[in-house]
Amino acid sequence: EGGTKPPAQTWSFSGPFGKFDRGAMQRGLKVYKEVCAACHGLSFVAFRNLAEAGGPGYSVAQAQAFASDYKVKDGPNDQGEMFERPGRPADYFPSPFPNEQAARAANGGAFPPDLSLITKARSYGRGFPQFLIDFFTQYQEQGPDYIVALLQGYEDKPPAGFNLPSGSFYNNYFPGHAIKMPKPLSDGQVTYDDGAPATVAQYAKDVTTFLMWAAEPHMEARKQLGLQVFVFLILLTVLLYFTKKKVWANAH
Ligand code: HEM
Repeated sequence: EGGTKPPAQTWSFSGPFGKFDRGAMQRGLKVYKEVCAACHGLSFVAFRNLAEAGGPGYSVAQAQAFASDYKVKDGPNDQGEMFERPGRPADYFPSPFPNEQAARAANGGAFPPDLSLITKARSYGRGFPQFLIDFFTQYQEQGPDYIVALLQGYEDKPPAGFNLPSGSFYNNYFPGHAIKMPKPLSDGQVTYDDGAPATVAQYAKDVTTFLMWAAEPHMEARKQLGLQVFVFLILLTVLLYFTKKKVWANAH
């Protein structure tokens, strides 16, 4: 049995003119750092990425300060020892567990997936004519829709007759409904300093926006180039049309 189909949301980043909401990304980074990072890695994102164009909009100095809050494993040094040092912009987000076995041992046998690409990994259904589904849903944001729904989809009690295995939690949107991730978010858990509401709905939306950027850091540049190509092709078509008319004006 699958999960309930997540409702489609309005995202600032969907469609050909889509842009990331910078405030949402900065708040989402805070939610990831303070909540999700306890169990989930973000190992494809480097601290320096936080200061790159199309990203959350931090300066290089801010990204550097953010990195230095982390302890990063390094080594071996001249004595052959491993050691810890403050993070640098070139470092990647450290993962909470050394390997998958350790992660599973701490999570009742389930593996908390790395979140770097999760908005893409959960993008589309598992349907057969995938290319058709992709074509007709290309402007829909099914991955983010799923994640924002999942984070808000917990029920205190499963519906009557549902046999919830121990160590699992009931979630409306998780395929099979029994998820081993405990409800990660509750109201007031993360402090925002920009006046955005400290609610589960807001946290979920912000962290999903941040994770969408993590999975597709060059989305804004890609969409902008796509638009430029379209404008160019339209202009070229017009020019070619008049050129053709002129060249063939005296043809009989
Ligand atoms: C699974 C997101 C916090 C433990 C997942 C999945 C996502 C996710 C998208 C994959 C669901 C799927 O397979 O379809 C998040 C976000 C968090 C967060 C955005 C922060 C807001 C946590 C925390 C823990 C945790 C704090 C540990 C206490 C797990 C585990 C799984 C999981 C064990 C695997 C569940 C299973 O396969 O049954 N999470 N998570 N997560 N998460 Fe989280």
